[in-house]
Parts: sequence; C-alpha cells; structure tokens
Amino acid sequence: MKEESVRDLFQRATEHAVRFRESISAGPQRPRVSYEASLEAFREPLPERGDAGLEVIDALVAEAEPGLHAMTGPRFFGWVIGGSHPVGVAADWLTSAWGQNTGNHRATPAAAAAEAVAGNWLLDLLDLPRESSVGFVTGATAANFVCLAAARGDVLRKVGWDAEAQGLFGAAPVTVLIGDDAHATVFSALQFLGLGHDRVVRVKTDDAGCILVSDFAEAAGKVSGPCIAILQAGQINTGAFDDFDRIIPIARDIGAWVHVDGAFGLWARACPQRSGLAKGVDGADSWATDGHKWLQTPYDCGYAIVRDEEAHRRAMTIAASYLPPSFEGERDPSHFVPELSRRARGFATWAMIKHLGRDGIAAVVERHCQVARGMAERLRSEEGIAVLNDVVLNQILVRFGATHADDEADWLTQRTIERIQTDGVCFCGGALWRGRKVMRVSVISWLTDDVAGNVAADAIIAAWRVVLRESDGPIRGSRQI
Ligand SMILES: Cc1ncc(COP(=O)(O)O)c(C=O)c1O
Repeated sequence: MKEESVRDLFQRATEHAVRFRESISAGPQRPRVSYEASLEAFREPLPERGDAGLEVIDALVAEAEPGLHAMTGPRFFGWVIGGSHPVGVAADWLTSAWGQNTGNHRATPAAAAAEAVAGNWLLDLLDLPRESSVGFVTGATAANFVCLAAARGDVLRKVGWDAEAQGLFGAAPVTVLIGDDAHATVFSALQFLGLGHDRVVRVKTDDAGCILVSDFAEAAGKVSGPCIAILQAGQINTGAFDDFDRIIPIARDIGAWVHVDGAFGLWARACPQRSGLAKGVDGADSWATDGHKWLQTPYDCGYAIVRDEEAHRRAMTIAASYLPPSFEGERDPSHFVPELSRRARGFATWAMIKHLGRDGIAAVVERHCQVARGMAERLRSEEGIAVLNDVVLNQILVRFGATHADDEADWLTQRTIERIQTDGVCFCGGALWRGRKVMRVSVISWLTDDVAGNVAADAIIAAWRVVLRESDGPIRGSRQI
C-alpha cells in the first residue's frame, strides 16, 4: 500500500469519527434502527474480490452508523459504562496504528513499559497495596476471572495442592462465600474456573444489596478448608458498598482469600469525598475494576489487581520456547492476563490518567455523584415517581406508579422506560429489583454535567406524565409486561 493511501484512509476515518462525535449530543440517545435493519444493511454475499480501502471505510460507516447507540453521548444512562473520552480514543487509534502484540516486554518495550507505569499509577489512585500486580484485561468480567484464578490457586496451594498443574480433580473442595446481589459476571467467572456458579454459599444482603455482616459471620463459621470470599464495591443497581472494615477481618480469621468486584465502585477510592464508601477495601487480596467505566478509556479496558504477585503470575503465566525469556523480577504483560497476543491496552490508560490527573479523575467521579443526586431529587419530587435507593454514588433506581398496586407499577415502569427510549432525549434501561420492575440510571459519562442531568430528568418526568395520561383510568394488574 502506498504511503498516501495510509494517509487518505486514516484521514477519512478521522473525518467520519469527528462528524459522529460532534453530532452525538444533538441526536437521539438511542440507535436509529433495529438489529434486524442493521443486519439487512450489512448482509451481502461473501465478497469474491476486494473493494478499495476508502470505499470499504465509507461503506462501513454507512452501514453501521444508523445502528450505533449514543453510548458516548451526555445523556446515556443505560449501563455503567464510560463515554470513551477523545484522549483515550486518540491513544487507542495510535495503539491500533502501532500494532504492537503486547505479550512480552522485550518484544515491545514501550507497550510493556506504559502498562507497568500506568499499573503503578492505578495502585496510587485507588490507594491499593503498592506491591500488587496489575493485569490489563478486557474488562471487569475478565478481571474477576483472573483474580479468582489467582485466588483458587492460592487457597489450594495452602492445603498442599497445585491447582495450576493438577486442575481441580482430586483437590479439596473450595467454599465460595458470595453476596446474593453480586454481579452476574462474577458468577460467570466462577463457572469458567470450575468452581461453579451455583456451588457457592450465597450470603443474604440488605435493601441496598450489601452483604449482611452477621450472616457472613455465620456462614464463615461453618467453613472448613479452602475458602474464597467475594465482596463488592458498587452494587450494579444501587451503587452500594459492602462493609469491608467488618467483613474482611472475619474472612481473614478463616484464612479466606478476599476478592472485591469493584468494576466501577472502586473508583470512589480516587475521590476524596467518596473514598469513605470503600473504607477498608485495601485489606482484600484482589480487586477487579474497569478503565472503560470511570476512567473513560475506550473498550476494552479492565484491570485485574492482585496483592500477591506470585499467585497472580502462577495463575496466568504462559511460557513458550520461541518467546524471548523473562528473568526473575521482570514483568511481561502476559504474566498477568489470560491472553498472549493482544493489543497494547496500557497506552489508553496511561493517556487518560495523564490527561485527567488525580484531581481531574476525582472531579469526574464527584460530579457524577452530584448529578445523580440532583436527578434523584428532581425525579422524587414528581408525584408517582419513587427513587428506591439511597443515592450514595452514581446509580439511581427508579420506579413509576409508586402509589399503584405492584403489578400496575411494573407495567407503568416498563411503559415509561419504553417511552423514554422512544423519545430519545436520554437513554435509561430497566431491571428487576427485589422481583419488581425498575428503571436504572447510571451517571458515568465524562460529558454528563448538571445541564445534561436536568434535561434528562425533565424528559423522564415528561415521559412518565404521558404514560400516566395514556394509561387512561384504572390499570389492570393483569397487563403483561
Ligand atoms: C459490579 C460489576 N461487576 C462486573 C461488571 C462487568 O464489567 P465488564 O462489562 O467491563 O466486563 C460490571 C459491569 O457493569 C459491574 O457493574
């Protein structure tokens, strides 16, 4: 390929990307077309002959854009995901352009060095034990997997079993203590690791989804043998935190490995006004968190942080004779993640931390918590709208038709969510909480400020009023949602 074609291609991609980003706030905060329409747009017979690169890029944009969600927009509250900050995106473009296979520090010194430095910055920002190792993974799901792999190996090693070499056949059973409201992906990680998503001791939680300390103590009292305790910083619906100061010592007393899923909530540690929420979390053994949430890096970006570097390495090391050897004390990115070949995820993390700085990160977290609180107050002031959680962080749980019977409120909540999504001023999604339909609002995009919060709250209230008016008298509980 000639050099100018590289320039033309990259410039064309830049033009498309800039136009897309610059129009994101004004457009509907949802995809413009359905999955079926997107499938139709992409569908064509396997190309027998290739098209010119510029044509391919233009076709990709034409076919993809209508089906893209406004996830980088200021009023996207659908899931707890950051807004892919342009600085992170630019670093990520360079990461792709540089095309570094980031397994080994001798093969790609810069990619490995950026990870090593960014990893230390993360430990400092999150105020976690500085001796911990950091694996750059695709997200918190993978981070939970890596941390729990290290946990599994370590608790079995302590009873004389080498799980990395022998697997689980013949090993002592491992008890997993986990809160009833842990994130679904933690159960998936247990499933991947042969620990089973059902073969766990589920500990009861309170109204906010936090583990009940007395129930945890009771469950811990019944454990004999290897044990992993899984706690949570930031419940997906309520944003609440487990009581680390009281639970971790109980887990320590029975020799358990303590893992914390802090996909978004761990970032409270980076914000002086919120860090009290995660007090004592540094007493754990491992932590999973995301860059593509509060740090606003593009996907895929998560961090598996393990206090005992050796346990981390043992669980993940890949050795092959054709790879440059690494010696005692040397860090290869592949030592801490499941993959060998992968992109250089450290560059975007390094760039975002360098761009925002400690102060900027704290300010983003605090702003989102304030916006969430403001939105909650505004919503709560409208008759028929209930905010179900104490908004301690960035999550709001909303129910519509609060004064109606439960089934009617389920129906009204579902209809209001649909109405909000159709209107497209903002995007919120639904969930079940304690068996009832709720709407979730996650304030986490770097673009979201008070103005966006107010516009969104007004749009939510307007949608609710329309649904109520159109529900036209008594609502039958038998209506299906
Ligand atoms: C508490 C919690 N854990 C784990 C995850 C999974 O993170 P990811 O989707 O980045 O893998 C999420 C995602 O929202 C989460 O909120």
